[in-house]
Amino acid sequence: MEILVTGGAGFIGSHITDRLIKEGHNVVIVDNLYSGKRENKNPAADFVKMDIRDKEAEGVFKKNNFDAIFHLAAQMDVRKSIEDPFLDADINILGGINILQNAVKYNVRKVVFASSGGVMYGECADRYPEEDEYPNPLCPYGASKLAMEFYLNFYQDNYGLDSAVLRFGNVYGPRQDPHGEAGVIAIFAGRMLKGEDIYIFGDGKQVRDYVYVGDVVEANIRALKKGAGVYNIGTGESESVNELFDILKEITGYGKDAVYEAARSGELQVSRLGVKKAAEKLGVKAGVSFKEGLKETVEHFREKIREKRKQD
Ligand SMILES: NC(=O)c1ccc[n+]([C@@H]2O[C@H](COP(=O)([O-])OP(=O)(O)OC[C@H]3O[C@@H](n4cnc5c(N)ncnc54)[C@H](O)[C@@H]3O)[C@@H](O)[C@H]2O)c1
Repeated sequence: MEILVTGGAGFIGSHITDRLIKEGHNVVIVDNLYSGKRENKNPAADFVKMDIRDKEAEGVFKKNNFDAIFHLAAQMDVRKSIEDPFLDADINILGGINILQNAVKYNVRKVVFASSGGVMYGECADRYPEEDEYPNPLCPYGASKLAMEFYLNFYQDNYGLDSAVLRFGNVYGPRQDPHGEAGVIAIFAGRMLKGEDIYIFGDGKQVRDYVYVGDVVEANIRALKKGAGVYNIGTGESESVNELFDILKEITGYGKDAVYEAARSGELQVSRLGVKKAAEKLGVKAGVSFKEGLKETVEHFREKIREKRKQD
């Protein structure tokens, strides 16, 4: 297939691209390198450095004959979305519409959209929310993701553009960026390996559904093949920041205790996901345990630090 991956130089998009290339697809990446990195992009994919809001994006559709799109390009920093909701909406909504308009005009059949389960359901102390729960995003980033989900419904109903919406938990793994939703893992791993202090904001009992990037890639590939709908993509379990600290401490051999600082306002205490639908309909289940995934992630950061030391 001919496939467009927007955000293919980013953390998750680059892993999806690697898998698509491995499966023999032709991939074009559109990414403006806002947070993505050249080193992430698969050399076998065509790379177009372009903003998804750019009118010239049409040229990319004209030149290729895309069967499907993985739409991952986004402003995905929750705090940034609060500071600058105009920018968030501009990239995430208007940029998204630009891609969808072209998808319809150039007869693309399917869009797999990277939404967020971590910001979609509000506080979840008493439950593991399923996809049919009324969404309750508490930040502009969550609102822009939800808006795109509704736009996708519109394009599906009016133009027959098939779509699958994947609401990811907090994705972690090699190449992850400290600014992302699971950024805490990249930050802790990097700082522990350098022997630096680790700061935990609040009591460290905040929990998240941390899902390994390899499992997220699998869900994306299955969503491409298996039809439409909205799916939570996570482990169905949740880990606290304190648990995360302890496991990373063991893996890295870090010798210090955490430094506790005042809680950050606006941060969710409990974010969880019900993942039954993804298991039933897409046949996906988190295959990588938290400890295994963290080991892989630490190894990646260890390698990065080694490379950097060699260059210095
Ligand atoms: N990482 C997570 O935990 C997580 C959780 C839920 C949802 N998501 C979603 O998954 C997607 C990928 O996230 P990621 O963690 O890989 O982040 P990332 O920042 O590594 O990837 C986003 C990519 O989009 C590109 N991009 C941003 N704005 C662009 C623009 N205007 N035009 C073209 N390219 C642009 C960036 O350069 C980057 O390569 C995002 O849509 C994000 O909202 C991520």
